[in-house]
Amino acid sequence: MSGFVEKPEPVHVPGLVHLHTGKVRELYQNEAGELVMVASDRISAYDWVLPSTIPDKGRILTQLSLWWFEQLADLVPNHVLSTDLPAGAPADWAGRTVVCRPLRMVPVECVARGYLTGSGLAEYEQSRTVCGLALPEGLSDGSELPAPIFTPATKAEVGEHDENVAYEDVARRVGPETAAQLRQLTMAVYHRGRDLARDRGIILADTKFEFGFETAGDSGGEGGERLVLGDEVLTPDSSRFWLAADWEPGRAQRPFDKQYVRDWLSGPESGWDRRSEQPPPELPAHVVERTRDTYAEAYRLLTGTPFE
Ligand SMILES: Nc1ncnc2c1ncn2[C@@H]1O[C@H](COP(=O)(O)OP(=O)(O)O)[C@@H](O)[C@H]1O
Ligand SMILES: [Mg+2]
Repeated sequence: MSGFVEKPEPVHVPGLVHLHTGKVRELYQNEAGELVMVASDRISAYDWVLPSTIPDKGRILTQLSLWWFEQLADLVPNHVLSTDLPAGAPADWAGRTVVCRPLRMVPVECVARGYLTGSGLAEYEQSRTVCGLALPEGLSDGSELPAPIFTPATKAEVGEHDENVAYEDVARRVGPETAAQLRQLTMAVYHRGRDLARDRGIILADTKFEFGFETAGDSGGEGGERLVLGDEVLTPDSSRFWLAADWEPGRAQRPFDKQYVRDWLSGPESGWDRRSEQPPPELPAHVVERTRDTYAEAYRLLTGTPFE
């Protein structure tokens, strides 16, 4: 079992058409045909969107993503148009709303990994490969890879796991030129993010990007269409961040943001068995509060500025 414990109702705003309820974000289209992305305070763990929310999470992750888009602007164009609130939107959307250029999304989750864990580790243990790429013997959970690798995946529906695929599958699916560009951009952005995070005591173990093509009439230039970085970037929701000081290969690393949530859910106090069919329970206030602080702390460490 997995998915939403309680499916949220999207807010109705005149002039906006609701397109999609994601695990964490609501997607709308405005009358200009632009995309309005609203991050909520929802949090997921163990494949569930939990019944509790984390105050400020939507604003912290939106601000972090916007900060990263700026850091990356010389490497790749991005979809951000503005952070203005649409007319008639609730005041509490401020700080967690991004108006974006609508892109024709490439149906590939562009994952870069500098460290071995998660689905990469599972494949490695079977075959000493990740997405078909051969890796040396002797790596364990959390090991740094000899060099970062591009490990694409195909997108799954809510509650299902993305499927890792070989580079050749991506090339077949989107064409060799686009595949090569996706890989090049993904690795360039990963390297920038990894180095910047490392300087600030944080390991960027892996991360996922989504790219799209500018839709017709948008690009202005002649020649081929341009790939643009979309979605959110280098937030804890799309990336694994570990505290460098706690890193110790050979065991599961504690996720910087969700450590208290996972510890509590998997501990005796929650009374919850994640292998059961039961949905997870509400988080107690102290777990919510400490988790809110970890998001604020991730923001502060990475950007060098306290949140608010
Ligand atoms: N600029 C964009 N144009 C069009 N679609 C986008 C853009 N940026 C992101 N998306 C898409 O918007 C959706 C966001 O959904 P998301 O909140 O991530 O929910 P989910 O939990 O279903 O992934 C994704 O399908 C993503 O590919
Ligand atoms: Mg998504």
